[in-house]
Amino acid sequence: MKRLVVLSGAGMSAESGVSTFRDSNGLWENHRIEEVASPIAWQNNPQMVLEFYNQRRKQLFEVEPNAGHKALLRLEKKFDVQIITQNVDDLHERAGSSNVLHLHGEMKKVRSTLDPGLVYTLDHWELKWGDKCEKGSQLRPHIVWFGEGVPLIGTAVEIISEADIVLVIGTSMVVYPAAGLIGYAPESSPKYYIDPKAFPVSGITNLTIVKEKAGKGVPRLVNQLLEEA
Ligand code: OAD
Repeated sequence: MKRLVVLSGAGMSAESGVSTFRDSNGLWENHRIEEVASPIAWQNNPQMVLEFYNQRRKQLFEVEPNAGHKALLRLEKKFDVQIITQNVDDLHERAGSSNVLHLHGEMKKVRSTLDPGLVYTLDHWELKWGDKCEKGSQLRPHIVWFGEGVPLIGTAVEIISEADIVLVIGTSMVVYPAAGLIGYAPESSPKYYIDPKAFPVSGITNLTIVKEKAGKGVPRLVNQLLEEA
């Protein structure tokens, strides 16, 4: 089976009702990024950080996968599909996709501030100041904040280095190291960039630009790839 690697960003979930980061109604409009998504913010005002993520998590319990997420599942009939997402939502999993790597963490997970190996999945939306891990330390969102390392980047590089086909969906390609991943795909592998604002990425060969929303562009491309396979 050929390996098909998906690199998804916030635009993947936009039509599910999850705001993107950098479009005009973006998530950060009323909050500067460093106010809510950095270790310094957590140090200075943990309650505000918790509240911010609680609101995002609450929203996540109310949204559903869209046609783009669902179409990716169909690819598993003919391809070894590996999804590398910058998204912290669980919409790929809820659409049924089997292999999803969350580069920037997961909204429904929280972890110990004392022992990062202690990770828990919440079945409700609210994480409170005073909620503690089994070793007695405060729990924090399981999210990669600005200024923190991306622990899974090495695994992601390994996955994309073996890609026969690459789909980049709904990302502005400005946040590194995620934005650099496409550069590790084999030069000869066909690559598709589906995003209303997609652009030719410098240095990337065999790239087809699909200026469409994920809900329309992904099902159409999936049909084409399944026919060609
Ligand atoms: P951005 O908000 O930077 O970019 C969203 C992209 O989605 C843009 O290129 C839009 O054109 C596109 N878009 C909007 N609606 C779409 C639709 N319906 N279908 C397809 N594409 C659509 O989001 P990311 O590139 O994902 O990091 O941002 C990367 C990282 O920046 C995030 O993971 C987050 C943020 O800081 C962390 O939280 C660590």
